[in-house]
Amino acid sequence: MDFKNKSVISIRDLSKNELNYILDKSAEIKNNLHPEGLKNIVLASLFFEPSTRTRLSFESAITNLGGSFFGFADDASTSVKKGETLKDTIKTITGYCNVIAMRHPLEGAARVASEVATVPVINAGDGSNQHPTQTLLDLFTIREVFGKIEGLNIGLLGDLKYGRTVHSLSMALSAYNVNLYLISPEILQMPEHYKQYLDKSGIKYDSTDSISDVGKKLDILYVTRIQKERFGDPQEYEKAAGSYRITLDTLNKMSSHVKIMHPLPRVNEITYEVDETENALYFQQAHNGIPVRQAIIGLVTGAIK
Ligand code: CP
Repeated sequence: MDFKNKSVISIRDLSKNELNYILDKSAEIKNNLHPEGLKNIVLASLFFEPSTRTRLSFESAITNLGGSFFGFADDASTSVKKGETLKDTIKTITGYCNVIAMRHPLEGAARVASEVATVPVINAGDGSNQHPTQTLLDLFTIREVFGKIEGLNIGLLGDLKYGRTVHSLSMALSAYNVNLYLISPEILQMPEHYKQYLDKSGIKYDSTDSISDVGKKLDILYVTRIQKERFGDPQEYEKAAGSYRITLDTLNKMSSHVKIMHPLPRVNEITYEVDETENALYFQQAHNGIPVRQAIIGLVTGAIK
């Protein structure tokens, strides 16, 4: 399968075979089969919006396999502040690197960047639109723990309106035969066009506002933070804030084997006592960002076949 020079912008651009191929490569990398696999590869790490996991795991990923990176964690120190456009920024940086990882607050920014870059662009999150590398590490973690993705009962809980991780993940899961439960307060429901995508894919899904309706059925509960930064109206945020929280008590009312996932950062939607249970998967999930991002960088640069 040839990914060379291909940008990774939306999860919907990847077929199920391509998703599985990336997961297989990630597993090989995690098993140390590609030491030095990114030697001589230079990554531009361009973060126009805050990040801990995505940026630092990209930077650790490339360094650990023999490559290098440069970039910024905040555009305040760049010529964007003098009025330079995104297109001109990318047209310049594309000459300094082999691959670009970019996070930007505007939906569609990664697609625009990929249209002017001469190297592959990896979308590290664009507004509330897509976060494809997060989805790949989510799928990798699910497969690592359950040995499969097909047939699982998966609940997506929280901010399904603005959460880019659940937008990407629900699209990817529609390629697998899972049962999906969309659990959110009414004002944070999954936007209609994502539901239409699920309808078209033929995936089975239900929507509810209560975890207690479905908790006993779930193999995985994927919890998300309410995306405060995306609310136009602070009063709307206040209405939604604190409307769900996973505690030991909540866990006790769910299936005993349920795994709790979360893209992180969390604010208060999972209490710290849950971290100590066998159900908590979110830090293993975050750590899987390394092999998965190594696989993506390697494949799109042609350094890993
Ligand atoms: N999951 C995720 O995207 O985390 P960061 O915002 O810390 O990168």
